[in-house]
Amino acid sequence: MAATAAATAATAAATATTQESQSDAVQKNYKIVQDVGNFTATEAQRPDFDHAKHIETTKSPYPTWDYGQGVPDNGASLLQEHHEVDPYAPDRPSVNNYRLLVSAIAPRPVGFLSTVNSQGQKNLSPFSYFQVIDHDPPMFIVGFSSRPGRVKDTYRNLKETGECVINTVSENMIEAVNATSIDAPYGVSEWDVSGLHEAPSTTVKPSRVKESVFSVEGKVIDIKEFADHQQPGMSIAATVLIRATRFWVKEGTADADFSHIDLDKLRPVGQLGGVSYGRVVSTFERPRTKWSNEVVKSELLARLEEEKGEN
Ligand SMILES: Cc1cc2nc3c(=O)[nH]c(=O)nc-3n(C[C@H](O)[C@H](O)[C@H](O)COP(=O)(O)O)c2cc1C
Repeated sequence: MAATAAATAATAAATATTQESQSDAVQKNYKIVQDVGNFTATEAQRPDFDHAKHIETTKSPYPTWDYGQGVPDNGASLLQEHHEVDPYAPDRPSVNNYRLLVSAIAPRPVGFLSTVNSQGQKNLSPFSYFQVIDHDPPMFIVGFSSRPGRVKDTYRNLKETGECVINTVSENMIEAVNATSIDAPYGVSEWDVSGLHEAPSTTVKPSRVKESVFSVEGKVIDIKEFADHQQPGMSIAATVLIRATRFWVKEGTADADFSHIDLDKLRPVGQLGGVSYGRVVSTFERPRTKWSNEVVKSELLARLEEEKGEN
């Protein structure tokens, strides 16, 4: 019996050692954190951030656009052909898919997640594979990428405790938020790394970020792990579905019934490709249309409706 236990322990230790050396090996070729050279010198050449910048509202790009017009640029946007990319091609590094996707699907909102593990140790990290996906019930999705070695602490905590607070990221918070993405050892709190302030939550254990304009307490309702795609030495990739249990809106940033947050107060930051972030400095509006109102004004819509009727 003792001999069997010893053999099992030896096998487990050998497996752990193999996994460790596999993750060390993949780590060497894994360059997801972009080398930015002497960033301080580069940034010194750039103009200062304009804190007072007003958000202007302009006309839309083609205000006289009519049904069927596509992009009214005389075919300029149709000149180039497209290059086909197989994301799974054996000679395509996954880092190329990362760089392509984060530069192509942009801007992305940053979900700033506060979690705790089962011992109550705190974690705070940003995620831009993130989106609100419904309001009734209010639901959110977060994607955790595979990486050499262990899974992201936030993912581990969500699996362990099923709770989080999702906080919004405004321009004035970005240096502190970006700093929390550091690969801190498990159990080190990025609250301390960032200097951001905690505020108590009601329905979940993790704290809210007091600096955020909007925070959402939430509970995990589903997890999808992509085991079939996991590579040796890499952590598993996973997507987590979170259902909101409470909203927190900063005083003075919303209307009287807390149904609309002022963009000028939110000042959202979007993540772009590489190490770039973007701010909203200009907006435009387009009314949402209803077929019944529009069909009487548009020959094209009337013809489409008539042709459909003939089928
Ligand atoms: C703005 C920003 C967005 C990020 N988005 C994601 C993401 O969507 N998914 C992910 O796995 N990592 C993302 N990262 C990287 C994580 O924040 C980083 O790996 C962090 O160390 C994870 O922390 P944790 O291990 O404490 O959870 C992002 C980093 C930044 C700066």
